[in-house]
Amino acid sequence: MYVSDLALTDFRSYREVVISLEPGVTALVGPNGQGKTNLVESIAYLATFSSHRVAGDAALVRAGADRAIVQAKVQRGGRPSLLELEIVAGRANRARLNRSPTRPRELLGHLRTVLFAPEDLALVKGDPDGRRRFCDDLLTLLGPRMASVRSDYERVVKQRNALLKTAASARRAGSEGDIRTLDVWDAKAAASGAQLLAGRVRMLRDLRPHVQAAYEQVSSGQSLAELSYRASVSTDEDPISEDDLTRPELVEEKLLEAMARLRPREIERGVSLVGPHRDDVELILGGLPAKGYASHGESWSFALALRLASYELLKGEGSWDGDGEPVLILDDVFAELDSRRRERLAELVAPAEQVLITAAVGEDVPGALSGVRLDVADGKVTRADRA
Ligand SMILES: Nc1ncnc2c1ncn2[C@@H]1O[C@H](COP(=O)(O)OP(=O)(O)OP(=O)(O)O)[C@@H](O)[C@H]1O
Ligand SMILES: [Mg+2]
Repeated sequence: MYVSDLALTDFRSYREVVISLEPGVTALVGPNGQGKTNLVESIAYLATFSSHRVAGDAALVRAGADRAIVQAKVQRGGRPSLLELEIVAGRANRARLNRSPTRPRELLGHLRTVLFAPEDLALVKGDPDGRRRFCDDLLTLLGPRMASVRSDYERVVKQRNALLKTAASARRAGSEGDIRTLDVWDAKAAASGAQLLAGRVRMLRDLRPHVQAAYEQVSSGQSLAELSYRASVSTDEDPISEDDLTRPELVEEKLLEAMARLRPREIERGVSLVGPHRDDVELILGGLPAKGYASHGESWSFALALRLASYELLKGEGSWDGDGEPVLILDDVFAELDSRRRERLAELVAPAEQVLITAAVGEDVPGALSGVRLDVADGKVTRADRA
């Protein structure tokens, strides 16, 4: 698939911009702060409803405006679809699909993107929440159903934490608090949490061979890159095998048991201590944890391998009208890489149906990725055919 047209209204630095895009490689080139990332961020946001730069929506709306609109025409197997999303900071987004109003969720699945960015290094070196987001964003792209499981679970954990805090203060005041309500939220958290957790583990299983292959390609096969899901519900006393973690009914039972066991501590601390929001994906390189052991270059290779593997997984996923191939977005990554990794990455992404690259200077775009060049300056995008 590819994006053929993009129009932004009050998105980030853009008051109004309309651009057309082609399949193949497009490089967006221009000095710092001119709005290159803003353009590709809008496309990725339309595919995932999340930004690689900010958690909330507020920064996406142009300062001084009250809502942003992103419109994109996506070409898939010869059939265009028109996706429109209105982003209102702090409120629910509104969506239209082929000009008919619809729930935003219905847009998910019409556009798929895989975005590479300098921030990806944090997937390897950073905290578990980045790796959880990686899993959940990919799950959302693989199947919009998981998008609702994910948001259900996030909502339930928030509610449950609020209740645990109330229970904690009730206890301090010498009363029992409303324990029965807590039981209800335990059940909800276990049900959606089990779906999410099992979904992640299944997805990671499918992803694993792609990560190994991609790491080998990026790094010239020096060590084996492995992934291991660390479930907070699995303990030393009662370890749960990876197989079992793919079974939602079993995971739900285990989560309920763990919540019952941990309740006094949860009330004391006022937070939910077990469930997919406390899990991690351990990245292992040559038998050692990548975090803390891998070199800078190896960490980059691992981060690239995770993105390349996502691309392969989405592309090969057949349930999707035969065209699940995502649009590849490379936001300023080449400047971060040494020349060998740069060339390898360029070779690997070159055959994709659409590749959008941002770079401050044209020289940062490897020669293997020749295509259309768009100059971005002062909020304007102009076409400059590459020499
Ligand atoms: N909500 C917003 N309202 C107005 N301007 C914004 C908003 N969000 C970001 N900007 C502006 O957009 C500009 C950054 O754009 P962007 O990140 O796309 O730059 P870039 O071309 O990718 O630069 P670089 O080469 O440094 O990565 C900044 O000047 C920033 O102040
Ligand atoms: Mg940028």
